[in-house]
Amino acid sequence: MLDAVERKIEQYIQDLNDPEITALYRALPAGKRLRAKLILKIAGNGLSAVKTAAIVEMIHAASLLHDDVIDDADTRRAKPSLNALYGNKTAIMLGDVLYSKGFFELNRLGVPIAQMISNAVTQLSLGELKDVSLSSRFNTDRDAYLHMIYQKTASLMEASAGAAALLAGKPADAYMTYGRNLGIAFQMIDDILDITSDSETLGKPALHDYEEGKTTLPYIYLHEALDKAGQERLRSLHGKRLTDEEQAWIKDEMKEHEIIQKSFLEAQELAEEAISLMDNEGERALSSIAMAMIERDF
Ligand code: IPE
Ligand code: IPE
Ligand code: MG
Ligand code: MG
Ligand code: MG
Repeated sequence: MLDAVERKIEQYIQDLNDPEITALYRALPAGKRLRAKLILKIAGNGLSAVKTAAIVEMIHAASLLHDDVIDDADTRRAKPSLNALYGNKTAIMLGDVLYSKGFFELNRLGVPIAQMISNAVTQLSLGELKDVSLSSRFNTDRDAYLHMIYQKTASLMEASAGAAALLAGKPADAYMTYGRNLGIAFQMIDDILDITSDSETLGKPALHDYEEGKTTLPYIYLHEALDKAGQERLRSLHGKRLTDEEQAWIKDEMKEHEIIQKSFLEAQELAEEAISLMDNEGERALSSIAMAMIERDF
């Protein structure tokens, strides 16, 4: 059924009747389509569900176009990022086109769904802004990190699950909680993979977050675990391009203090909460989506 989503996105792009936009969009690789899968699993394969999934994936793609400009990232989905290929101006404007076309189509799905998704995009943008402001210094505040990842990533998953539930006449609140927990866990895993994986597997830059000043959950926990001298060394590397030796030191210390296990466990607990909530709704298929989002390599 994802085929129907791909066709719908293609149609939305064709509607714009702009050869440059069509060519740029076609050059973008598709990604995992996790948000679309989530929506179809909850709402089924009817036309409104397919449209919602297509719109959410366009919005998500727009957020990544802007995110790669913000994060100065040169690869995305295993290809050079659009900002690397054509510059920041093109990436920003294609992002704006995808966002605004998404909002236009969202309007046709009715007020409750349009409000739910568009409100999430405001949260996403606030979260991206918070991510940038938190990275100006070494953030040790776990709650600030958790709220920021809720805003930048979980809000759209929460709204996707909620909108899908509305379409299917299911209780939106339970599904939104599921999407929220899953989204927070998903971003935690993304932040862990930045440390444990490599650029080839991820299809995007690895070990890039700390250089960009992002003290994600593992860095917050490592800072807590280190002695004074270790903390000072860690802080001295914040926001800098790391040598191989510095990278190895960070990874060794993470291993020594079992930081990745601790962070992973936290993501897993959130996912399990999400799964048991859906088990209560008799939604076994949503367990496998949640597990796949946690136990992933990219
Ligand atoms: C990447 O999301 C951005 C985050 C929220 C971590 P995905 O990992 O779902 O990206 P694609 O769509 O599969 O490329
Ligand atoms: C999530 O954060 C980005 C959005 C919610 C748009 P990241 O900056 O960690 O995402 P990746 O790692 O670049 O995909
Ligand atoms: Mg990024
Ligand atoms: Mg980012
Ligand atoms: Mg990331």
